[in-house]
Amino acid sequence: MKPLQIAENIYSVGAVDWNISDFHGYSTDMGTTYNAFLILDDKITLVDTVKKEFADQLLDNISKIIDPKKIDYVISNHTEMDHSGGLPKIMHRIGENKPVFCSKMGLKNLSLHYRQKLNYKAVENGEQMSIGKRTLTFLETRMLHWPDSMFTYANEDRILFSSDAFGQHYAGPERFDDEVGDAIIPHAKKYFANILLLYSAKILKLIESVNAEGLAFDMICPDHGIIWRKNPGSIIDLYAKWSRHEAEKKAVVVYDTMWHSTEKMAESIVNGLSQEGVHARSMLLSKWHRSDVITEVLDAKAVVVGSPTLNNNLFPTVSEFLTYMKGLRPKDKIGAAFGSYGWSGEAVRLINSELEAMKFDVIDPGLRVQYVPDRDGIEAAFQLGEKIGKAIDN
Ligand code: FEO
Repeated sequence: MKPLQIAENIYSVGAVDWNISDFHGYSTDMGTTYNAFLILDDKITLVDTVKKEFADQLLDNISKIIDPKKIDYVISNHTEMDHSGGLPKIMHRIGENKPVFCSKMGLKNLSLHYRQKLNYKAVENGEQMSIGKRTLTFLETRMLHWPDSMFTYANEDRILFSSDAFGQHYAGPERFDDEVGDAIIPHAKKYFANILLLYSAKILKLIESVNAEGLAFDMICPDHGIIWRKNPGSIIDLYAKWSRHEAEKKAVVVYDTMWHSTEKMAESIVNGLSQEGVHARSMLLSKWHRSDVITEVLDAKAVVVGSPTLNNNLFPTVSEFLTYMKGLRPKDKIGAAFGSYGWSGEAVRLINSELEAMKFDVIDPGLRVQYVPDRDGIEAAFQLGEKIGKAIDN
């Protein structure tokens, strides 16, 4: 990724990672970017670095604009290593005595990641710092995505450097939202569903406080993916909607199967849901990655989970999915369970127990069919789909 001027004396200087396909358990089929921003002012300031392996690319990009040694300040909005991994190399190049501004938790977490002593300067929430013609404001955003996360707002430019928030794992030739259009939204949605969903309450509070303070944004620059400049408010509105757990008349039927019996039940449940006018989506876990399934769960009202019983237990992919979903804490969902079994048949009870632990409104007792569903079994699955559809309507 070549450096790009995004505003007067502000450059995007980060790196593109075309080939990453798994980002700590999240499938990144479109790669990602590690964005960093260089502000030329009386104090030349670098906002964030990149993953360790891309530090040379960052330095190369900066060198096309200025000698990196001229950088006066570094800001670390977030400690996670996709943004700070390049910090030791950058500091070695620009001078290890240069200040690194971060949140209080950032100071602690950076110190725990990188054992050499750097000149960390902890900033307070709301603290302002002049770098010449510009004033930067630091806003603590704990848990978006880590306890150390913060935003940096360039007051005069009305540009928000938002770290992980509003990002997307998307690598492409485009650098701005208006160059991609609405095709970027599914990537932002997947990012929210897999990275930020469990922090929904904090996001709503943050949006409220930003609105109360009357902050205006001409541009939102996340550390992953494209920059929002056409209508930055639109991604904030989507974050508010997703954080409120607003659901559509939609169901996800997610399952795995051993000998196609649970699959036949899934197909019939989908038909029953469709009969009730529900947009139903069937997702086989040996085909779909859990991060894609969660993206669909985000705005679905019902999650219907199917598993064969294997060794008195859940099928492993279903167990894994339930663990993943539980951690992300989707709310206000209807849940139901189904599955084929041979002789013991614990899977449906185990799924129901997990759905109840997630506080789903569970349609009890779910549906079990021994071995291969016959006509009655298929009809029972259809009726379960209809029942869930009616519950969505209520
Ligand atoms: Fe992009 Fe939480 O790191």
